[in-house]
Amino acid sequence: MIQLKNKQVKFGKVHLHVNKSADPQHDQFVPKGNKYVDHDKMLETLAHAIEADKPVLLIGETGTGKTSAVRYLAQETGNAFRRLNLNGATTVDEFVGKILIDEKGTYWTDGILVDAMRNGHWLLIDEINAGLPEILFVLQSLLDDDKYIVLSDKKDREIVRPHPNFRLFATCNPSDNYSGTKEMNKALLSRFPIVLEIGFPTPDKELDVMKSKFKSVNEDLASRMIDMANDLRNGYKEHKMDFCFSTRELINWYEMQEFTGGDVKLAAKYTILGKCNKTDKEVIEQHVQTRFKAIEKEYDGDLKVGTVIRAEANIVPYSTKDTVPAGSVLRVIKSPWDRGGNIGMTVMMKLERPGAHDPSKISLPKKPDIVFKLDDLSGRIRIEEATATL
Ligand SMILES: Nc1ncnc2c1ncn2[C@@H]1O[C@H](COP(=O)(O)OP(=O)(O)OP(=O)(O)O)[C@@H](O)[C@H]1O
Ligand SMILES: [Mg+2]
Repeated sequence: MIQLKNKQVKFGKVHLHVNKSADPQHDQFVPKGNKYVDHDKMLETLAHAIEADKPVLLIGETGTGKTSAVRYLAQETGNAFRRLNLNGATTVDEFVGKILIDEKGTYWTDGILVDAMRNGHWLLIDEINAGLPEILFVLQSLLDDDKYIVLSDKKDREIVRPHPNFRLFATCNPSDNYSGTKEMNKALLSRFPIVLEIGFPTPDKELDVMKSKFKSVNEDLASRMIDMANDLRNGYKEHKMDFCFSTRELINWYEMQEFTGGDVKLAAKYTILGKCNKTDKEVIEQHVQTRFKAIEKEYDGDLKVGTVIRAEANIVPYSTKDTVPAGSVLRVIKSPWDRGGNIGMTVMMKLERPGAHDPSKISLPKKPDIVFKLDDLSGRIRIEEATATL
């Protein structure tokens, strides 16, 4: 997106006018703070539809960024963005409007569609293929060439025509994979002049999406997660799995592993496994297990008090919330002890990171005695105590 003079923004070859409304009623619906990583010229195509005032149907698996793309364009062009999900429960009253009663008698109140049409808002209708027939019928008349709807329940049977800034977008998931949604009504489908199919971004672009979401991303880890998601997506496409590993799931997973201090497996449990059926769960668990191997690393060297070690990869302590970053030099200040049993020896030690308190009091040899190498990204070493961040 390029910002131009004369209140315009440019997406590819398309220039869009920026709506500079000072009306708080309008502003409350203008999205803020969203980022969108463009792929497959999505923004340019959408911008073209907006410029030409053509309704767009976006078809794609869940979490492919359909809503985000439209929301982002509304944000960048200063337009009010409204959303409605047509999943089963939405009635035509909520959509178009209804008659209410107060002490003075009955009066009409607009539904979201009419409100957006009158005020020139953008309306995104999610899960359009799940809508009730009465709703789809209203939409059909709006999408016809004459572009108006009749409020047939209102006393005066008012005809509502859209404000020039009104735009209509609809989304749906490819129906063969989603239970509960009907196959898209063909008459309605044919009334959308532009139908955009959105697929998952390439791994590079998906990494950019992750970078746009988090302050600092462990690119190696994120790329491995993306690889795993792509393999599982293939399984989904071939109908071997029900679970669709979307960008949304990746973001949730990555965020949770940050929260759990780098525990990729636990993060998958919290964010993904609960949504899967038994078979998918097993497949995903297997992938996580083999791709992000060690959960706990064991060390059976001689760690005497005073030994200095350097971490070659991030160390995630169990009992402190700070990750010890790769490259940290640590001194053992409490002896490890053998926990015995057939799990071998688990190192339990008290570590002090040089400089944490008074750097002048800690003199470290230039060369560490031991180098800890934790190859796995989720590799852990049990650390009983580590001092606060430097
Ligand atoms: N290209 C992208 N750039 C930035 N964020 C993205 C992109 N694609 C997806 N996302 C992020 O992924 C998540 C899911 O996106 P979004 O809600 O737009 O998907 P959707 O296609 O509308 O899904 P659904 O069909 O379930 O409604 C959001 O957090 C969104 O910010
Ligand atoms: Mg959506």
